[in-house]
Amino acid sequence: MSLDRPSRMCRVLESKRRLDIKDTTIVPSPTAAITAIATCLPSTRVTNAELSQRLDTTDRWIRSRTGIAERRRADGKGPVLAMATSAGAAVLEVAGHRTVDLVLVATSSPDRPSPAVAPQLASRLGLGFVPAFDISAVCSGFLYATNIASSLIRSGAFRSILIVASEAYSRIVDPDDRATSVIFGDGAGAALVVAGGTASGSEVLAEDWGSDGDGCDLLQVGPAGGDVRNYFSMSGREVYLRAIETMSTSVRAVSERCSWHTDEIDVLVPHQANRRIIEAVAKKLSMPADRAVVSLEKTGNTAAASIPLALAHAMTTGMVRAGDRVVMTAFGGGLTWASTALRWGEVGLAEVEL
Ligand code: UT7
Repeated sequence: MSLDRPSRMCRVLESKRRLDIKDTTIVPSPTAAITAIATCLPSTRVTNAELSQRLDTTDRWIRSRTGIAERRRADGKGPVLAMATSAGAAVLEVAGHRTVDLVLVATSSPDRPSPAVAPQLASRLGLGFVPAFDISAVCSGFLYATNIASSLIRSGAFRSILIVASEAYSRIVDPDDRATSVIFGDGAGAALVVAGGTASGSEVLAEDWGSDGDGCDLLQVGPAGGDVRNYFSMSGREVYLRAIETMSTSVRAVSERCSWHTDEIDVLVPHQANRRIIEAVAKKLSMPADRAVVSLEKTGNTAAASIPLALAHAMTTGMVRAGDRVVMTAFGGGLTWASTALRWGEVGLAEVEL
């Protein structure tokens, strides 16, 4: 067969391709954008001085080893649902939305193991019979929810998704354990993710997420030290080192997907576990430390709620501006990690106390 004469089969395929191009209407996939953020903090503050009175610790140790000065404690019944409801209602109000297509709740400290918080939240917010489920990815929960929401919106399956992260670690941390009770605090954060362009909202550009179950015992809730109660326990030093390594690797991966060098990131929004971890991640990424948000001083580590609380801090302090390249990154129990890159746009903000 002559090489310059296409075979009959090739000609058939070629004419079919031309036909397909002519007959197919190309519908671009929708983009996903965060249009509003809301936070809810309980009004009760627990200072380092208070903890130093009943534990073998000092304000100096806590500040120098973690950067934390105080944290909030949710009192009363069902604090996770209560904080989720306040943050969820505030984010819908600020975004001017009365309905959404899906509700996702990220929590690792639910008021009860079952049922999930999300359906109760949807009911309380009057959102009707929408699908609603919880995500258990510990400190990476908010970014897991963001990545699920943006993927579902880009697929065309949903147009608006409410995501809420709500945590009450004060109920799962042993109050007598100085290693954990000085670090954790309670709080919630919410975001509305919608289909649309960058004209309004912060467009989600890329995601990186993963897990390593081999490290599942490093952070866990279960009986510890012969105690039959289920308390949170953590291998602090090991988690510290893994958090630095994993978050910096994940930020590099998500930046590459956006064709950004890490030194081009305008604002890094890291999980708020420890100021020293945040500084070490920025250093590893060759970023000036002042481009990394540090909001833990007044809230402590709020697990899944830490990223929306840090985002709100970046907004109120003027650290983040329209057009900025923003990368959020988290690491936590599971082990899990996640990073999300955004081009910052117009985002509404509400901050409420409970
Ligand atoms: O959110 C999920 C991810 N979590 C994290 O990323 C947390 C990661 N880990 C950390 O942030 C740090 O490891 C901690 C803040 C938990 C601990 O800081 P560290 O510098 O790693 O301290 P360490 O665990 O190596 O302990 C150093 C010393 C120990 O005493 P010895 O053995 O040297 O005598 C601890 O017993 O500090 C002691 N210590 C404390 N001393 C005073 C531990 N907690 C306290 C405390 N007050 N609250």
